[in-house]
Amino acid sequence: MYNIAVLPGDGIGPEIITETIKVLQAVGEKCGLEMKFTEALVGGAALDATGVPLSDETLELCYNSDAILLGAVGGPKWDTLPVHLRPEAASLLRLRKELDLFANLRFVKLFPGLVDGSPLKREIVEGTELVVIREATGGLYFGEKKRERTAEGERAVDTLVYNTFEIERIGRLAFEMARKHPRKHLTSVDKHNVLASSRLWRDIMNKLAKEYPDVNLEHMYVDNCAMQLVRNPRQFSIMVTENMFGDILTDEASMLAGSIGMLPSASIGGKVALYEPAHGSAPDIAGQNKANPLAAILSGALMLRYSLSAEEAALSIEKAVNSVLEAGYRTGDIMAPGMKRVGTVEMGDLVAKSVKEEAL
Ligand code: IPM
Ligand code: MG
Repeated sequence: MYNIAVLPGDGIGPEIITETIKVLQAVGEKCGLEMKFTEALVGGAALDATGVPLSDETLELCYNSDAILLGAVGGPKWDTLPVHLRPEAASLLRLRKELDLFANLRFVKLFPGLVDGSPLKREIVEGTELVVIREATGGLYFGEKKRERTAEGERAVDTLVYNTFEIERIGRLAFEMARKHPRKHLTSVDKHNVLASSRLWRDIMNKLAKEYPDVNLEHMYVDNCAMQLVRNPRQFSIMVTENMFGDILTDEASMLAGSIGMLPSASIGGKVALYEPAHGSAPDIAGQNKANPLAAILSGALMLRYSLSAEEAALSIEKAVNSVLEAGYRTGDIMAPGMKRVGTVEMGDLVAKSVKEEAL
């Protein structure tokens, strides 16, 4: 029996998590996997109910679980709060930090059933399958920040800091993943021509490369990378980069897969891994049965693969997602002419049904 901590969060979070659990239960029954889901509050929802965005109880539950499934946090209601109360920093970023989830793996895969769903041309995107390994507990997000008065007005400072050990551990993880990939190609993304932290980053990647002679390491500037992603995405297989660069590049890369609503993620490295869609809480469509639950459902598949070692079950979900897309069902974000528009719940039902029906 696996214990799963479920943190639905804010906005569309609860809706997409409901569909994810529906699909996980379907695959659990089919593959004989027992999972116990325990819900807890996180983000703005937790702040409203308890006064803090991440309570000790929720943290405790996370520590005592085999994996964590998270929806999304944040919303306009909490946007003007001081940073220590804002759901993003005080719950999501704190969770990543507390649990030492230094590697955020974002899987950009264009499902064959959705080639028409990408705003980019078929010749460019078809066959795109890449992983961005985003460093998630350091870099620009976690360096010293301050805001102060000066003679001219005000000044704000954010710092991009990396220690050797932080770059080494994410680098090692990236090389290990690249080694297992058929192409054995690793793209390290930095801004070596401008940033001191990128120069340390590159030095360490080069040092690690000596231990992985079978992996072909390539360095790329982040601005060039942003362009290359839409020019020729198939050149990439495994990428590794700083926290903020990874945040920006993965929003861009998600469109290669059709929509930000298609991008799942796994945060690993610490004691308990966390699985969440890469998108936000989308308050503008919350509660309207419009959100695409597939990024969350696919994050559930990643959880089965990486935390529960249930590869067959993970594949079963991914196959079901592709079948549903191939059958022409689309939420609004991936809608195309001639396709069948469905809501969040219908999409979850379709995937769960397809999981149950398909042979193992
Ligand atoms: C993400 C999100 C978060 C981030 C926000 C909500 C703090 O954009 O997971 O990419 O910037 O890491
Ligand atoms: Mg982001």
